[in-house]
Amino acid sequence: MEFGVKGKVALVTGAGGGIGGSIAQYLNQENAFVYLIDRDEKGLNDVLNNLPNQELAKVIPLDITDYNAVKTVIDDIALNHATPEIVVNAAGIAGLNTPIFQLEEEDFNRIVKVNLNGTYNIIRHASLHMVELGRGKIINIASMAGVAGSNLFQSHYAASKGGVISLTRSVAKELGPKGINVNAIAPGVIETQMIAGMKSEAKQDYFSKIPLQRIGNPEDVGKVALFLASDLSIYMTGQILNVDGGIVMA
Ligand SMILES: NC(=O)c1ccc[n+]([C@@H]2O[C@H](COP(=O)([O-])OP(=O)(O)OC[C@H]3O[C@@H](n4cnc5c(N)ncnc54)[C@H](O)[C@@H]3O)[C@@H](O)[C@H]2O)c1
Repeated sequence: MEFGVKGKVALVTGAGGGIGGSIAQYLNQENAFVYLIDRDEKGLNDVLNNLPNQELAKVIPLDITDYNAVKTVIDDIALNHATPEIVVNAAGIAGLNTPIFQLEEEDFNRIVKVNLNGTYNIIRHASLHMVELGRGKIINIASMAGVAGSNLFQSHYAASKGGVISLTRSVAKELGPKGINVNAIAPGVIETQMIAGMKSEAKQDYFSKIPLQRIGNPEDVGKVALFLASDLSIYMTGQILNVDGGIVMA
C-alpha cells in the first residue's frame, strides 16, 4: 500500500521513547526522512540503530521546552534540508500520582511545560514553514486522561493533555485553510517506560476494563500515526483518535 510519505521530511519528538520510537520506525519504513528528536540521546541512538533505513534518519538531541533551541533546529532543517511536512509531537512526561490538594505548583508546572508548552513550541515554529509550503500533517500524542480525566491522581498530566487536545482542534481550524491537517491520538495504557512505575494492582484494574482485553503496545499507536501522516487521512482534521482498546468507554 502507498502511504504517500515517501521522500517527505518528518520530525518526531519523543523519538527516543516507546511511542515516538515506534512512530519513527513506521515513517522510516515507508521511506520518509525522519528527524528523531528527544532529550535522551541514548534512547535516540537505540531507536536509530533499529531503523530499517538508517540513511533516512538523523538524531537531534533537544529539550522541547527550550523555545529558542526548538526554533533554531526547525529553521535549520527547513533551510538546509526541506520543510518538515510531517510533525509528530510524542515527547511527554507523567507526574507522580498526587491528590490535587497535595500537588505542588512546581510539579504542575513541570508537567504542563513539557506536554503542553513543548508541543506548542514545536507547532509554533514548524507551522510557519508548513504554511509557506502550503501543506503538512501535524500529529499530537494526547492521552485518554486528556479526554476523560485521570483515574490515577494525575490531574496535572490530564490537564496538560486536555490542553493538547484543545490546541489540536484550534490549530486545525486555523491551519485547515492553509492545507495543513492537525489531528491527535489519545492512547490508553501503552507498555512503555512511562508506565514502568505503574503499580500492578492499577494495571490489573485497567486490564479488566479494556474491551480488547490487553494493554497496548507502541506499534498500536505507531500504525495510527502512520495513517494520520499518510494520504489515507487527507480529509480528516481536528480529530482525536482514541487508541485504547476501547477503555475510554468503560
Ligand atoms: N505509555 C502510555 O501509557 C501513554 C498513554 C497515553 C499517552 N502517552 C503519551 O505518549 C507520549 C509518548 O510516551 P511513551 O509512552 O512513549 O513514554 P516514553 O517515556 O517511552 O517516551 C517519552 C519520551 O519523551 C522524551 N521527553 C520527555 N521530556 C522531553 C523534553 N523536554 N524534550 C525532549 N524529549 C522529552 C523522553 O526522553 C522519552 O524518550 C507521551 O506524550 C505520553 O504522555 C503515553
